[in-house]
Amino acid sequence: MADPSLPTTHRVWRMKSEVKDTKDAKSIEESLSLEEEQVPTIKEGQILVQVACCTINHEDILHLKNAYVNTKDIPIPRGVGFEGSGKVVASKAPFYLGLKVGSRVAFYSDQSCALAEYLVCDAQTVTPIPAGVSYSTAAAAVTNAFSVLLMVQNLKKGGHKAVVNTVGAGSLGRLFTKHAKSLGINVIALVRRDSQKDLCQADGAKVVLNLSDPDFDQQLSQAIQETNCHFAYDGLAGDMPDRLLKALPLHSVVSIYSEIVSKKLTIDVNHLYQKRIEAFNAGDEAKALWTVQMLPLMSKLQKWMATPEMQTTIRTQFEFDKLPEAISNSASEKKSDGKVQVIVTPSML
Ligand SMILES: NC(=O)c1ccc[n+]([C@@H]2O[C@H](COP(=O)([O-])OP(=O)(O)OC[C@H]3O[C@@H](n4cnc5c(N)ncnc54)[C@H](OP(=O)(O)O)[C@@H]3O)[C@@H](O)[C@H]2O)c1
Repeated sequence: MADPSLPTTHRVWRMKSEVKDTKDAKSIEESLSLEEEQVPTIKEGQILVQVACCTINHEDILHLKNAYVNTKDIPIPRGVGFEGSGKVVASKAPFYLGLKVGSRVAFYSDQSCALAEYLVCDAQTVTPIPAGVSYSTAAAAVTNAFSVLLMVQNLKKGGHKAVVNTVGAGSLGRLFTKHAKSLGINVIALVRRDSQKDLCQADGAKVVLNLSDPDFDQQLSQAIQETNCHFAYDGLAGDMPDRLLKALPLHSVVSIYSEIVSKKLTIDVNHLYQKRIEAFNAGDEAKALWTVQMLPLMSKLQKWMATPEMQTTIRTQFEFDKLPEAISNSASEKKSDGKVQVIVTPSML
């Protein structure tokens, strides 16, 4: 049943062309437009969500540059926005999910359409928001948390007791350290500024190294040896996987989950001898999971939403029609200070 007060039209951000410079609000403004469109209808198994709040992540920046592998084939003009939260206003969800009009949910829109006043979601993919958790907190509690759960699960399956993470001070990195430590895995966290070291140490990292130190590679080899580490998660790409392979012992794995520095890898083939390099993609791994495997992960996401130390820091929020400014702010430096959000429906917060 739909909410009778539902409007027939709503505002939607559309990407008309590839954004040339995601740090420049003017350039973003030229590529995006705020359109008035019909509120979408839902099919069996779907819910209609009134969007409260969205979080801008690195994949939004890649999507706008037409460089995000999961969406680059969606024709332009297309939607924008992946992660957010809102309230169910119409539901054709299976009864056992308990998603009714009025239920509060956090979501990930894999088609990138979240920056709109209303969004259709597959009911199976949303996470109900626990009582007392704000829409703002919930809107930043899906993408990284879900990825961290899968990343650490992979380490546990492989019997690893230590891991390197090359992006230690970002939102994903901080959650990763806390969760890995709670399961007895030692984390060697890499940062690029000394001021980020305290943050990672407080999260529980066993060793924190600064990538900018002149003897960084030597320090990395020593930390790997001391912790008997055979696995590294890399979020930088460029020459970092090669440096990790070189420092890691035989029978080690480097798993790349992002490409913050460069999409191109520089690898010395000799460093691959009895070592392996692979790519991690939470979306691909999620598609391979059965519902029974998803349920404990969803319940963990809900638990983390309500746990202050597992919540993502929000550094600033923008109004819905200020999206270009929100994106340029998010694309700027010092991302360890937290995420940028867009408030879609202020009255819901
Ligand atoms: N594969 C997957 O399934 C998956 C899932 C979720 C996220 N991701 C990816 O994981 C990455 C991290 O996400 P996040 O949400 O944690 O991002 P975030 O909060 O924006 O943090 C990014 C971090 O990278 C650091 N950084 C930026 N440029 C750097 C450089 N040139 N060298 C070294 N460090 C640099 C930043 O440090 P400063 O503070 O100094 O700028 C910050 O600590 C993103 O690229 C995201 O797309 C992948």
